[in-house]
Amino acid sequence: MHEGLEGKGAREERRNAMGGDVRRVFPEGFLWGAATSSHQVEGNNVNNDWWDWEQLPGKVAHGDKSGDACDQYNRYRQDFEMARDLGHNAHRLSLEWSRIEPEEGRFDRAAVEHCRDVLGTLKSLGMATMVTLHHFTNPRWLAAKGGWLRPEVVGLFERYSRHVAVELGDLVDLWVTINEPMVYATQSFLFGVWPPEKKSVVLAFRVAKNLAKAHGRAYHAIHELLEARGMRPLVGIAKNMMVFDPKRPESRWDRAVASKIDRIFNKSFLDALTTGVMAFPLVRRETDPKLAGTQDFIGVNYYSRTLVGFNIRKPQTLFIDMAVKEDVEKNNLGWEIYPKGIYRILMSVKEYGLPVYITENGIATTDDKQRERFLVSHLREVASAIADGVDVRGYFHWSLVDNFEWKEGFTPRFGLVEVDYKTQARIVRPSARLYSEIIRTGSLPQERLQ
Ligand code: GAL
Repeated sequence: MHEGLEGKGAREERRNAMGGDVRRVFPEGFLWGAATSSHQVEGNNVNNDWWDWEQLPGKVAHGDKSGDACDQYNRYRQDFEMARDLGHNAHRLSLEWSRIEPEEGRFDRAAVEHCRDVLGTLKSLGMATMVTLHHFTNPRWLAAKGGWLRPEVVGLFERYSRHVAVELGDLVDLWVTINEPMVYATQSFLFGVWPPEKKSVVLAFRVAKNLAKAHGRAYHAIHELLEARGMRPLVGIAKNMMVFDPKRPESRWDRAVASKIDRIFNKSFLDALTTGVMAFPLVRRETDPKLAGTQDFIGVNYYSRTLVGFNIRKPQTLFIDMAVKEDVEKNNLGWEIYPKGIYRILMSVKEYGLPVYITENGIATTDDKQRERFLVSHLREVASAIADGVDVRGYFHWSLVDNFEWKEGFTPRFGLVEVDYKTQARIVRPSARLYSEIIRTGSLPQERLQ
Protein backbone atom coordinates (compact mmCIF):
# COMPACT_ATOMS: atom_id res chain seq x y z
CA MET A 1 0.00 0.00 0.00
CA HIS A 2 1.70 3.18 -1.09
CA GLU A 3 1.31 6.37 0.84
CA GLY A 4 -1.43 8.51 -0.51
CA LEU A 5 -3.44 5.62 -1.89
CA GLU A 6 -5.44 5.28 1.26
CA GLY A 7 -7.23 7.84 3.34
CA LYS A 8 -6.22 9.12 6.74
CA GLY A 9 -9.23 7.30 8.17
CA ALA A 10 -7.91 3.86 7.24
CA ARG A 11 -4.55 4.69 8.71
CA GLU A 12 -6.13 5.92 11.94
CA GLU A 13 -8.18 2.77 12.14
CA ARG A 14 -5.12 0.58 11.85
CA ARG A 15 -3.30 2.70 14.41
CA ASN A 16 -6.16 2.23 16.87
CA ALA A 17 -6.20 -1.48 16.14
CA MET A 18 -2.51 -1.83 16.85
CA GLY A 19 -2.98 -2.67 20.47
CA GLY A 20 -6.14 -4.70 19.98
CA ASP A 21 -6.42 -8.41 19.43
CA VAL A 22 -9.71 -8.13 17.59
CA ARG A 23 -8.94 -6.45 14.31
CA ARG A 24 -5.97 -7.30 12.14
CA VAL A 25 -2.99 -4.99 12.23
CA PHE A 26 -0.94 -6.76 9.60
CA PRO A 27 -2.39 -6.87 6.10
CA GLU A 28 -3.98 -10.00 4.65
CA GLY A 29 -1.44 -11.90 2.61
CA PHE A 30 1.42 -10.73 4.83
CA LEU A 31 4.34 -13.17 4.71
CA TRP A 32 5.32 -14.54 8.09
CA GLY A 33 8.34 -16.74 8.55
CA ALA A 34 11.89 -17.13 9.70
CA ALA A 35 15.26 -16.81 7.98
CA THR A 36 18.39 -18.96 7.91
CA SER A 37 21.50 -19.29 5.77
CA SER A 38 23.12 -22.41 4.37
CA HIS A 39 26.42 -22.33 6.21
CA GLN A 40 24.81 -21.55 9.54
CA VAL A 41 22.35 -24.43 9.57
CA GLU A 42 23.11 -27.10 6.96
CA GLY A 43 26.35 -28.57 8.27
CA ASN A 44 29.38 -29.83 6.38
CA ASN A 45 29.75 -27.09 3.86
CA VAL A 46 33.31 -28.32 3.48
CA ASN A 47 34.02 -26.60 0.21
CA ASN A 48 33.85 -22.91 1.12
CA ASP A 49 36.14 -20.22 2.53
CA TRP A 50 34.45 -20.10 5.93
CA TRP A 51 35.00 -23.83 6.47
CA ASP A 52 38.73 -23.42 5.80
CA TRP A 53 38.95 -20.38 8.04
CA GLU A 54 37.16 -22.06 10.98
CA GLN A 55 39.81 -24.77 11.02
CA LEU A 56 42.50 -22.19 11.88
CA PRO A 57 43.14 -21.74 15.61
CA GLY A 58 41.70 -18.69 17.33
CA LYS A 59 39.32 -17.59 14.60
CA VAL A 60 35.92 -18.60 16.00
CA ALA A 61 34.90 -18.17 19.65
CA HIS A 62 35.59 -21.20 21.87
CA GLY A 63 37.25 -22.94 18.94
CA ASP A 64 33.82 -23.78 17.50
CA LYS A 65 33.63 -25.08 13.95
CA SER A 66 30.44 -25.17 11.91
CA GLY A 67 30.79 -28.96 11.61
CA ASP A 68 27.34 -30.55 11.46
CA ALA A 69 25.75 -27.21 12.47
CA CYS A 70 22.01 -28.02 12.80
CA ASP A 71 22.27 -30.83 10.26
CA GLN A 72 19.52 -29.14 8.32
CA TYR A 73 20.99 -30.53 5.13
CA ASN A 74 19.38 -33.78 6.24
CA ARG A 75 16.64 -32.51 8.55
CA TYR A 76 15.03 -29.85 6.37
CA ARG A 77 11.72 -31.64 6.07
CA GLN A 78 11.32 -31.93 9.83
CA ASP A 79 12.34 -28.28 10.33
CA PHE A 80 10.01 -26.98 7.65
CA GLU A 81 7.09 -29.03 8.98
CA MET A 82 7.76 -27.55 12.38
CA ALA A 83 7.73 -24.03 10.89
CA ARG A 84 4.50 -24.77 9.06
CA ASP A 85 2.96 -26.15 12.29
CA LEU A 86 3.94 -22.90 13.96
CA GLY A 87 1.91 -21.07 11.35
CA HIS A 88 4.72 -19.76 9.13
CA ASN A 89 3.54 -19.22 5.58
CA ALA A 90 6.99 -18.36 4.19
CA HIS A 91 10.65 -19.20 4.73
CA ARG A 92 13.91 -17.54 3.80
CA LEU A 93 17.02 -19.64 3.17
CA SER A 94 20.22 -19.41 1.17
CA LEU A 95 21.77 -21.61 -1.47
CA GLU A 96 25.35 -22.72 -1.04
CA TRP A 97 27.27 -21.66 -4.14
CA SER A 98 30.13 -24.02 -3.19
CA ARG A 99 27.81 -27.03 -3.40
CA ILE A 100 26.16 -25.98 -6.65
CA GLU A 101 29.45 -25.10 -8.39
CA PRO A 102 32.08 -27.08 -6.45
CA GLU A 103 34.74 -26.40 -9.08
CA GLU A 104 34.90 -23.42 -11.36
CA GLY A 105 32.53 -24.01 -14.26
CA ARG A 106 31.38 -27.46 -13.06
CA PHE A 107 27.80 -27.44 -11.82
CA ASP A 108 26.80 -30.37 -9.67
CA ARG A 109 23.58 -32.13 -10.67
CA ALA A 110 23.06 -33.83 -7.31
CA ALA A 111 23.42 -30.54 -5.43
CA VAL A 112 20.79 -28.94 -7.63
CA GLU A 113 18.47 -31.91 -7.13
CA HIS A 114 18.91 -31.50 -3.40
CA CYS A 115 17.91 -27.84 -3.65
CA ARG A 116 14.86 -28.85 -5.66
CA ASP A 117 13.87 -31.21 -2.85
CA VAL A 118 14.40 -28.53 -0.21
CA LEU A 119 12.42 -25.84 -2.03
CA GLY A 120 9.84 -28.35 -3.26
CA THR A 121 9.25 -29.40 0.35
CA LEU A 122 8.48 -25.82 1.32
CA LYS A 123 6.13 -25.43 -1.63
CA SER A 124 4.35 -28.69 -0.83
CA LEU A 125 3.80 -27.37 2.71
CA GLY A 126 2.15 -24.31 1.21
CA MET A 127 4.96 -21.93 2.12
CA ALA A 128 6.36 -19.09 0.04
CA THR A 129 10.11 -19.25 -0.61
CA MET A 130 12.63 -16.45 -0.37
CA VAL A 131 15.99 -17.58 -1.69
CA THR A 132 19.34 -15.87 -1.11
CA LEU A 133 22.12 -16.54 -3.61
CA HIS A 134 25.05 -15.23 -1.57
CA HIS A 135 25.10 -15.21 2.22
CA PHE A 136 28.74 -14.46 3.16
CA THR A 137 30.32 -17.79 2.07
CA ASN A 138 32.26 -18.33 -1.14
CA PRO A 139 33.37 -21.47 -2.97
CA ARG A 140 36.98 -22.30 -2.13
CA TRP A 141 38.01 -21.99 -5.79
CA LEU A 142 36.58 -18.46 -5.92
CA ALA A 143 38.31 -17.39 -2.70
CA ALA A 144 41.60 -18.77 -4.08
CA LYS A 145 41.28 -16.47 -7.11
CA GLY A 146 40.84 -13.40 -4.92
CA GLY A 147 37.07 -13.64 -4.50
CA TRP A 148 35.15 -10.37 -4.42
CA LEU A 149 38.26 -8.28 -4.87
CA ARG A 150 38.60 -9.37 -8.49
CA PRO A 151 36.47 -7.91 -11.27
CA GLU A 152 35.90 -11.42 -12.73
CA VAL A 153 33.65 -12.24 -9.80
CA VAL A 154 30.85 -10.25 -11.42
CA GLY A 155 30.63 -12.55 -14.42
CA LEU A 156 31.13 -15.64 -12.28
CA PHE A 157 28.27 -14.65 -10.00
CA GLU A 158 26.08 -13.98 -13.00
CA ARG A 159 26.83 -17.43 -14.43
CA TYR A 160 25.96 -19.08 -11.10
CA SER A 161 22.75 -17.01 -10.86
CA ARG A 162 21.74 -18.04 -14.38
CA HIS A 163 22.23 -21.67 -13.55
CA VAL A 164 20.13 -21.37 -10.42
CA ALA A 165 17.39 -19.39 -12.19
CA VAL A 166 17.06 -22.04 -14.88
CA GLU A 167 17.21 -25.01 -12.52
CA LEU A 168 15.22 -23.69 -9.57
CA GLY A 169 13.31 -20.66 -10.82
CA ASP A 170 9.93 -22.39 -10.72
CA LEU A 171 10.32 -22.96 -6.97
CA VAL A 172 11.34 -19.45 -5.92
CA ASP A 173 8.91 -16.66 -4.99
CA LEU A 174 11.35 -13.97 -3.91
CA TRP A 175 15.03 -13.65 -4.80
CA VAL A 176 17.68 -12.07 -2.64
CA THR A 177 20.87 -11.86 -4.69
CA ILE A 178 23.23 -10.72 -1.93
CA ASN A 179 22.82 -10.76 1.82
CA GLU A 180 24.12 -7.68 3.63
CA PRO A 181 26.65 -6.45 1.07
CA MET A 182 28.01 -3.71 3.33
CA VAL A 183 28.38 -6.07 6.31
CA TYR A 184 30.28 -8.53 4.16
CA ALA A 185 32.47 -5.80 2.65
CA THR A 186 33.31 -4.21 6.01
CA GLN A 187 33.68 -7.29 8.20
CA SER A 188 35.87 -9.10 5.68
CA PHE A 189 37.76 -6.24 4.02
CA LEU A 190 37.70 -3.22 6.36
CA PHE A 191 37.68 -4.53 9.93
CA GLY A 192 39.36 -7.75 8.83
CA VAL A 193 37.51 -9.95 11.33
CA TRP A 194 36.11 -12.43 8.79
CA PRO A 195 37.91 -14.19 5.97
CA PRO A 196 39.96 -13.05 4.07
CA GLU A 197 40.85 -10.64 6.92
CA LYS A 198 41.78 -7.57 4.88
CA LYS A 199 41.93 -4.19 6.57
CA SER A 200 41.53 -1.50 3.98
CA VAL A 201 38.86 1.08 3.27
CA VAL A 202 39.75 1.01 -0.41
CA LEU A 203 39.47 -2.76 -0.68
CA ALA A 204 36.18 -2.77 1.24
CA PHE A 205 34.56 -0.32 -1.14
CA ARG A 206 36.06 -2.04 -4.16
CA VAL A 207 34.26 -5.15 -2.94
CA ALA A 208 31.06 -3.15 -2.40
CA LYS A 209 31.24 -2.03 -6.02
CA ASN A 210 31.73 -5.57 -7.27
CA LEU A 211 28.79 -6.72 -5.16
CA ALA A 212 26.60 -4.00 -6.65
CA LYS A 213 27.64 -4.91 -10.19
CA ALA A 214 27.12 -8.61 -9.53
CA HIS A 215 23.67 -7.90 -8.15
CA GLY A 216 22.78 -5.87 -11.24
CA ARG A 217 23.87 -8.61 -13.60
CA ALA A 218 22.02 -11.28 -11.62
CA TYR A 219 18.90 -9.11 -11.45
CA HIS A 220 18.71 -8.85 -15.24
CA ALA A 221 19.67 -12.49 -15.80
CA ILE A 222 16.94 -13.78 -13.50
CA HIS A 223 14.34 -11.50 -15.06
CA GLU A 224 15.33 -12.35 -18.61
CA LEU A 225 15.47 -16.12 -18.09
CA LEU A 226 12.29 -16.44 -16.06
CA GLU A 227 10.21 -13.95 -17.99
CA ALA A 228 11.00 -15.96 -21.11
CA ARG A 229 9.29 -18.84 -19.28
CA GLY A 230 6.26 -16.76 -18.41
CA MET A 231 7.21 -16.05 -14.79
CA ARG A 232 7.42 -12.70 -13.04
CA PRO A 233 10.34 -12.93 -10.62
CA LEU A 234 10.80 -10.46 -7.77
CA VAL A 235 14.44 -9.70 -7.05
CA GLY A 236 16.15 -7.62 -4.39
CA ILE A 237 18.86 -7.69 -1.75
CA ALA A 238 18.79 -8.04 2.03
CA LYS A 239 20.29 -4.84 3.38
CA ASN A 240 21.51 -4.63 6.95
CA MET A 241 20.23 -1.32 8.27
CA MET A 242 21.68 0.02 11.50
CA VAL A 243 20.54 3.13 13.33
CA PHE A 244 23.46 5.52 13.81
CA ASP A 245 23.01 8.21 16.42
CA PRO A 246 25.61 10.74 17.60
CA LYS A 247 27.52 9.75 20.73
CA ARG A 248 27.32 13.31 22.01
CA PRO A 249 24.13 14.73 20.49
CA GLU A 250 25.30 18.25 21.31
CA SER A 251 28.42 17.83 19.18
CA ARG A 252 28.15 19.08 15.63
CA TRP A 253 31.02 16.78 14.63
CA ASP A 254 29.33 13.69 16.05
CA ARG A 255 26.09 14.61 14.35
CA ALA A 256 27.93 15.06 11.09
CA VAL A 257 29.66 11.67 11.26
CA ALA A 258 26.42 9.96 12.30
CA SER A 259 24.67 11.28 9.26
CA LYS A 260 27.66 10.51 7.03
CA ILE A 261 27.94 6.90 8.18
CA ASP A 262 24.18 6.50 7.80
CA ARG A 263 24.55 7.60 4.18
CA ILE A 264 27.54 5.36 3.51
CA PHE A 265 26.50 2.21 5.35
CA ASN A 266 22.72 2.31 5.05
CA LYS A 267 22.05 4.18 1.85
CA SER A 268 24.93 4.19 -0.62
CA PHE A 269 24.33 0.62 -1.77
CA LEU A 270 20.58 1.08 -2.08
CA ASP A 271 21.23 4.35 -3.92
CA ALA A 272 23.52 2.59 -6.40
CA LEU A 273 20.78 0.06 -7.17
CA THR A 274 18.30 2.90 -7.55
CA THR A 275 20.25 5.37 -9.68
CA GLY A 276 23.04 3.26 -11.18
CA VAL A 277 25.64 5.56 -9.61
CA MET A 278 28.14 3.68 -7.47
CA ALA A 279 29.51 6.37 -5.17
CA PHE A 280 31.52 4.81 -2.37
CA PRO A 281 34.29 6.52 -0.38
CA LEU A 282 37.85 6.38 -1.75
CA VAL A 283 37.05 4.39 -4.87
CA ARG A 284 36.38 5.63 -8.37
CA ARG A 285 32.78 6.68 -8.84
CA GLU A 286 31.15 4.71 -11.63
CA THR A 287 27.79 4.86 -13.32
CA ASP A 288 26.06 1.92 -14.89
CA PRO A 289 22.65 2.83 -16.27
CA LYS A 290 21.72 -0.85 -16.26
CA LEU A 291 22.13 -0.97 -12.50
CA ALA A 292 19.44 1.66 -12.04
CA GLY A 293 16.11 0.34 -10.81
CA THR A 294 17.35 -3.18 -10.06
CA GLN A 295 15.29 -3.78 -6.94
CA ASP A 296 11.72 -5.04 -6.99
CA PHE A 297 11.58 -4.73 -3.21
CA ILE A 298 13.79 -3.64 -0.34
CA GLY A 299 14.88 -6.31 2.11
CA VAL A 300 15.65 -4.91 5.55
CA ASN A 301 17.73 -6.75 8.14
CA TYR A 302 17.42 -4.83 11.40
CA TYR A 303 19.08 -5.63 14.72
CA SER A 304 20.32 -2.61 16.64
CA ARG A 305 21.64 0.91 17.04
CA THR A 306 25.22 2.15 17.29
CA LEU A 307 26.46 5.45 18.62
CA VAL A 308 29.11 7.17 16.56
CA GLY A 309 31.55 9.92 17.32
CA PHE A 310 34.24 11.83 15.47
CA ASN A 311 37.80 10.75 16.27
CA ILE A 312 40.70 12.49 14.61
CA ARG A 313 42.97 9.55 15.49
CA LYS A 314 40.97 7.02 13.44
CA PRO A 315 41.67 7.72 9.76
CA GLN A 316 41.59 3.98 9.07
CA THR A 317 37.87 3.91 9.92
CA LEU A 318 37.05 7.23 8.26
CA PHE A 319 37.54 9.10 11.60
CA ILE A 320 34.61 7.30 13.14
CA ASP A 321 34.40 5.81 16.62
CA MET A 322 31.61 3.41 17.41
CA ALA A 323 30.08 2.50 20.76
CA VAL A 324 27.00 0.92 22.24
CA LYS A 325 24.82 3.09 24.46
CA GLU A 326 25.34 2.54 28.16
CA ASP A 327 22.61 1.64 30.64
CA VAL A 328 20.26 0.12 28.09
CA GLU A 329 18.93 -3.40 27.65
CA LYS A 330 21.25 -5.53 25.51
CA ASN A 331 21.31 -8.96 23.94
CA ASN A 332 23.91 -11.63 24.70
CA LEU A 333 26.24 -10.15 22.08
CA GLY A 334 26.12 -6.73 23.77
CA TRP A 335 23.93 -5.11 21.09
CA GLU A 336 21.40 -2.54 22.26
CA ILE A 337 17.77 -3.62 22.09
CA TYR A 338 16.22 -0.66 20.34
CA PRO A 339 12.72 -1.39 18.95
CA LYS A 340 12.11 2.19 17.80
CA GLY A 341 15.00 1.67 15.40
CA ILE A 342 13.02 -0.63 13.15
CA TYR A 343 10.36 2.06 12.80
CA ARG A 344 12.98 4.70 12.01
CA ILE A 345 14.63 2.45 9.43
CA LEU A 346 11.34 1.54 7.78
CA MET A 347 10.38 5.21 7.53
CA SER A 348 13.82 5.97 6.07
CA VAL A 349 13.42 3.51 3.19
CA LYS A 350 10.08 4.98 2.19
CA GLU A 351 12.01 7.33 -0.10
CA TYR A 352 12.66 4.42 -2.49
CA GLY A 353 8.92 3.85 -3.03
CA LEU A 354 9.24 0.06 -3.10
CA PRO A 355 7.55 -2.75 -1.19
CA VAL A 356 9.56 -3.78 1.86
CA TYR A 357 10.23 -7.14 3.45
CA ILE A 358 11.87 -7.46 6.81
CA THR A 359 14.31 -10.13 5.78
CA GLU A 360 15.87 -10.49 9.26
CA ASN A 361 15.19 -9.30 12.79
CA GLY A 362 16.02 -11.20 15.93
CA ILE A 363 17.90 -11.46 19.20
CA ALA A 364 20.71 -13.56 20.65
CA THR A 365 19.50 -14.49 24.09
CA THR A 366 19.21 -17.41 26.45
CA ASP A 367 16.32 -15.67 28.20
CA ASP A 368 13.30 -16.54 26.09
CA LYS A 369 11.15 -13.98 27.93
CA GLN A 370 13.50 -11.37 26.53
CA ARG A 371 12.92 -12.80 23.04
CA GLU A 372 9.16 -12.54 23.60
CA ARG A 373 9.50 -8.88 24.55
CA PHE A 374 11.78 -8.31 21.59
CA LEU A 375 9.28 -9.82 19.18
CA VAL A 376 6.29 -7.86 20.42
CA SER A 377 8.11 -4.55 20.78
CA HIS A 378 9.65 -4.77 17.30
CA LEU A 379 6.44 -5.95 15.63
CA ARG A 380 4.59 -3.09 17.29
CA GLU A 381 7.00 -0.69 15.57
CA VAL A 382 6.56 -2.51 12.27
CA ALA A 383 2.80 -2.11 12.66
CA SER A 384 3.33 1.59 13.34
CA ALA A 385 5.37 1.95 10.17
CA ILE A 386 2.65 0.18 8.20
CA ALA A 387 0.07 2.52 9.71
CA ASP A 388 2.31 5.40 8.65
CA GLY A 389 2.33 4.29 5.06
CA VAL A 390 5.32 1.96 4.64
CA ASP A 391 4.42 -0.91 2.32
CA VAL A 392 5.74 -3.75 4.49
CA ARG A 393 4.74 -7.10 3.06
CA GLY A 394 6.45 -9.65 5.24
CA TYR A 395 8.54 -10.38 8.31
CA PHE A 396 11.22 -13.08 8.58
CA HIS A 397 12.47 -13.63 12.10
CA TRP A 398 16.14 -14.49 12.54
CA SER A 399 16.14 -17.36 13.09
CA LEU A 400 14.04 -20.50 12.93
CA VAL A 401 16.56 -22.56 14.88
CA ASP A 402 19.68 -21.73 16.90
CA ASN A 403 22.65 -21.86 14.56
CA PHE A 404 26.32 -21.16 13.83
CA GLU A 405 26.72 -17.44 14.44
CA TRP A 406 29.85 -16.92 12.35
CA LYS A 407 32.81 -15.72 14.41
CA GLU A 408 30.78 -16.08 17.61
CA GLY A 409 30.24 -19.78 17.04
CA PHE A 410 27.38 -21.68 18.64
CA THR A 411 27.04 -19.74 21.90
CA PRO A 412 24.57 -17.04 20.76
CA ARG A 413 21.03 -18.38 20.66
CA PHE A 414 18.96 -16.71 17.97
CA GLY A 415 16.38 -19.47 17.42
CA LEU A 416 12.65 -19.47 17.93
CA VAL A 417 13.46 -23.14 18.34
CA GLU A 418 16.30 -24.37 20.51
CA VAL A 419 18.80 -26.84 19.11
CA ASP A 420 20.50 -29.35 21.38
CA TYR A 421 23.73 -29.69 19.41
CA LYS A 422 24.61 -33.01 21.02
CA THR A 423 21.47 -34.79 19.88
CA GLN A 424 20.19 -32.38 17.20
CA ALA A 425 16.87 -32.35 19.08
CA ARG A 426 14.62 -29.35 18.37
CA ILE A 427 12.86 -27.80 21.36
CA VAL A 428 10.18 -25.25 20.53
CA ARG A 429 10.58 -22.16 22.71
CA PRO A 430 7.60 -20.27 24.17
CA SER A 431 8.54 -17.28 21.96
CA ALA A 432 7.87 -19.47 18.91
CA ARG A 433 4.36 -20.10 20.23
CA LEU A 434 3.84 -16.42 20.86
CA TYR A 435 4.95 -15.67 17.29
CA SER A 436 2.54 -18.32 16.11
CA GLU A 437 -0.30 -16.58 17.94
CA ILE A 438 0.61 -13.24 16.39
CA ILE A 439 0.60 -14.85 12.96
CA ARG A 440 -2.76 -16.53 13.57
CA THR A 441 -4.50 -13.36 14.70
CA GLY A 442 -2.55 -10.91 12.55
CA SER A 443 -2.34 -8.67 15.59
CA LEU A 444 -0.35 -8.14 18.77
CA PRO A 445 -1.81 -9.45 22.01
CA GLN A 446 -3.07 -6.56 24.15
CA GLU A 447 -1.70 -7.86 27.44
CA ARG A 448 1.83 -8.13 26.03
CA LEU A 449 1.85 -4.54 24.93
CA GLN A 450 1.42 -3.29 28.47
C1 GAL B 1 23.03 -10.99 10.07
C2 GAL B 1 23.38 -12.14 9.17
C3 GAL B 1 22.95 -13.47 9.67
C4 GAL B 1 23.02 -13.64 11.16
C5 GAL B 1 22.48 -12.43 11.89
C6 GAL B 1 22.62 -12.45 13.39
O1 GAL B 1 23.94 -9.95 9.92
O2 GAL B 1 22.82 -11.95 7.90
O3 GAL B 1 23.70 -14.43 8.99
O4 GAL B 1 24.24 -14.04 11.57
O5 GAL B 1 23.09 -11.27 11.41
O6 GAL B 1 23.80 -11.88 13.79
